[in-house]
Amino acid sequence: PPLTKPTILVSEKLGEKGLEVLREFGHVECLYDLSPDQLCSKISSCDALIVRSGTKVTRQVFEASNGRLKVVGRAGVGIDNVDLQAATEFGCLVVNAPTANTVAAAEHGIALLAAMARNVAQADASIKAGKWQRNKYVGVSLVGKTLAVMGFGKVGSEVARRAKGLGMNVIAHDPYAPADRARALGVDLVSFDQAIGTADFISLHMPLTPATSKVFNDETFAKMKKGVRIVNVARGGVIDEDALVKALDSGIVAQAALDVFTKEPPPKDSRLVQHENVTVTPHLGASTKEAQACVAIEIAEAVVGALKGELSATA
Ligand code: MLT
Repeated sequence: PPLTKPTILVSEKLGEKGLEVLREFGHVECLYDLSPDQLCSKISSCDALIVRSGTKVTRQVFEASNGRLKVVGRAGVGIDNVDLQAATEFGCLVVNAPTANTVAAAEHGIALLAAMARNVAQADASIKAGKWQRNKYVGVSLVGKTLAVMGFGKVGSEVARRAKGLGMNVIAHDPYAPADRARALGVDLVSFDQAIGTADFISLHMPLTPATSKVFNDETFAKMKKGVRIVNVARGGVIDEDALVKALDSGIVAQAALDVFTKEPPPKDSRLVQHENVTVTPHLGASTKEAQACVAIEIAEAVVGALKGELSATA
């Protein structure tokens, strides 16, 4: 019998150009909002799976695939929603789109930084509720303030470059970043404690790994400058959210702007989300038209390459 085309399951919305690349090579099925059970029953007929951050690719998914799944493509950077250990055990490659949404994430970080400092979201809600509270929403300036960029990879460096343009003094912490890249941008690489202890603003750009899980906790909040402001467009799990609520209540943290949460979507009654000094967006860091178009192509090419046996794991 003729060789059948590989089946590629796309479980979250992917840009049309990426789908075209996939369709040239395989049979593409787009099934969004599958429950974990539905994903497990579908996966045994799939050679590849493409996800964003909403699909949890658990050990059960690999088990259910009966060895057929050859590649998981993460249409984005962070691969914390894929069980890498299980992928390895089941001989499945995991590839990501490491560059296409860098600028989008950095721009959203800057958008949240500026919006937070000037109470844009709170003031918007207030005026729509019929109020005109000019005194309540006096903000703070960015110019001359110290921004600590935690995680000086692709996104962190783009945030640093932009923050320098806003006249901020930028320091960074990253155990792996080369000092010359930081120097070229006029950024000082400092220790974790030095970064969080001197910053007026802290922006998080590290991946979620066992080493970074809840690295912002009671102990580390206590080392921060009183009145610090925090932006997180990385992963919710790097912050102990209960500790952040406490730090907001005590005034150690004056404000936080969060695009990501330990559980997404967060519970409706989350004290963190409802906190008046917190600005939130629903994991929109990578969500620009431009970034999603590029991510779709980058991940489609990586997945097709992996199915052809051309690539080893990039993630
Ligand atoms: C990423 O890791 O690149 C982002 O979480 C992308 C996304 O929103 O899917």
